[in-house]
Amino acid sequence: MTPHSNITRRVASNQHAGRLIVTMSRILLSVAAVFLALLAGAAIWSNRHPEIAPVEQAGGAEFDTAQLLHGEALTGIGACEVCHTAPGGTPFAGGLALPTPFGTIYSTNITPDVETGIGSWSEEAFRRAMREGVDRNGRHLYPVFPYDHFTKVTDEDIRAIYAHLTTLEPVEYKPPENELGFPFNFRMLLAGWKLLFLDKGEFQPDSQWGEEWNRGAYLAEGLGHCGACHSPRNMFGAVMQAAAYDGGEAEDWHAPALNKMSRTPIPWKQLQLVNYLYDGWDEEHGIAAGPMAPVVNHLYDQSEDDIFAIAAYFESIQRRRLNDSEKNAILERARSLDWGTEFGYRPAVVPDDPALLRGMDVFADQCATCHKSGNVQVPVSLALTGTVNAPDPRNVIHVIFDGIRPPRGALQRSMPGFGASISDSEINDLLKFIRWHFTDLPPWQDISGQVAAKRAHW
Ligand code: HEC
Ligand code: HEC
Ligand code: HEC
Repeated sequence: MTPHSNITRRVASNQHAGRLIVTMSRILLSVAAVFLALLAGAAIWSNRHPEIAPVEQAGGAEFDTAQLLHGEALTGIGACEVCHTAPGGTPFAGGLALPTPFGTIYSTNITPDVETGIGSWSEEAFRRAMREGVDRNGRHLYPVFPYDHFTKVTDEDIRAIYAHLTTLEPVEYKPPENELGFPFNFRMLLAGWKLLFLDKGEFQPDSQWGEEWNRGAYLAEGLGHCGACHSPRNMFGAVMQAAAYDGGEAEDWHAPALNKMSRTPIPWKQLQLVNYLYDGWDEEHGIAAGPMAPVVNHLYDQSEDDIFAIAAYFESIQRRRLNDSEKNAILERARSLDWGTEFGYRPAVVPDDPALLRGMDVFADQCATCHKSGNVQVPVSLALTGTVNAPDPRNVIHVIFDGIRPPRGALQRSMPGFGASISDSEINDLLKFIRWHFTDLPPWQDISGQVAAKRAHW
């Protein structure tokens, strides 16, 4: 049998498995929808949301400068602009397509345009949207808008955000209609969803912890909505609270665990989290790429106190500790795995598997120019990064294909993309090699399927 037909068969069987999974999840989703519909009935019965009367023009002179500046900073922590801006579109005017397992949802226009934006929304209507996920007309909003987190924001902060939004230039723009299949196009279902999964109400401080920790928890759990990406979701698309920060999904990237399940060899200390969240880079953990980059770009403008607070919170939920000698052993090992500087360097342990050997050659040819010890612009030792230690290879695949456009605070640390210059089979071998060489973890599963999936959308 030729290698070619082998690959064709592999692809065919993957497609078959893929179709099966799609069919199964359709069935599960339909069962889920019927269940939600029943609950929705109960919820609507007990809890109706009337329209809130329109105002002539939102905002006005009643907000002072301090409030407006505070509101501007808060919209950064909430990353409102990231979701409410279409590619090439006006900031906050909406129209970004957000794919979900249920279909595509478009973000709305939140500039103060009266016809197409939130220009006719009173503060009360805005607060209700943030707290309960209901629009001014009384329609339920989809939880892609992370109101399950924003519900924790204080009245005062919601007011400041509202104030800031009303000072934006009104933009007349109507985003495309959502593309949701039956029955998910019925917003009524969300009444049932909320009954099950929406825990409404402001953040409650935990008196066991100090002020900094509580500030951090408030920002992370509320506006920062870190768990929207970093926590797993159930089949209804709701964050699983019992598994909070165990790792989740973000635009086909893996959002790593931020609790004791974190896979970075060196546990995150507060100061390292500050480096990462502010500048998008830490020398013992690596860089913020993909969907984390815009989050970090907005945190760049925040006050140091707030970033230290968020970092204090996440250091505390890690609950992993190393003593100095354990940590030094990890750093020493990482250094020993780094590529040497001399010409024709080969690692101490050379693989005997032909695929690993081919992968090693690709690494030596394409990657070792930068990823080697003694390089002036030393990238972090790959052995230390969350990406190479992650449970699946997706983030490394994205980085190899597209390269890295570093966050604002790490500007010089860019990496070119190789999607056009390295073939899929070379990338498969390269991934195998990287995992084998830089970690002691089991090999990644289904590398070729994941690379093919990336290529198909590239
Ligand atoms: C993860 C993406 C995401 C983020 C972050 C986000 N939104 Fe949204 N937002 C959406 C989507 C999508 C909708 C539309 C939901 C729907 O159609 O049911 C929406 C709807 C809204 C609405 C309702 C508007 C209307 O016309 O119905 C308001 C108000 C709003 N967002 C404000 C904000 C603010 C303020 C922030 C930042 C604090 C923010 N959003 C952050 C995705 C997001
Ligand atoms: C839009 C989704 C999204 C949001 C919101 C988000 N993250 Fe992330 N985060 C990611 C992704 C994806 C990665 C992986 C990036 C990479 O591999 O370069 C990541 C990486 C990280 C890492 C590095 C983890 C590791 O082990 O390497 C930390 C720390 C982190 N995020 C903290 C936060 C905090 C704190 C917040 C809230 C303020 C937050 N994130 C909000 C998607 C998100
Ligand atoms: C021109 C220099 C350059 C080349 C060539 C290069 N990289 Fe990078 N790479 C970087 C920089 C800079 C970073 C980001 C800084 C950091 O991680 O410290 C990076 C980051 C990465 C990361 C993310 C690490 C993290 O922090 O999570 C991976 C994975 C990676 N590179 C793999 C590769 C692979 C595989 C190749 C070869 C196909 C390659 N790189 C080629 C410069 C380069």
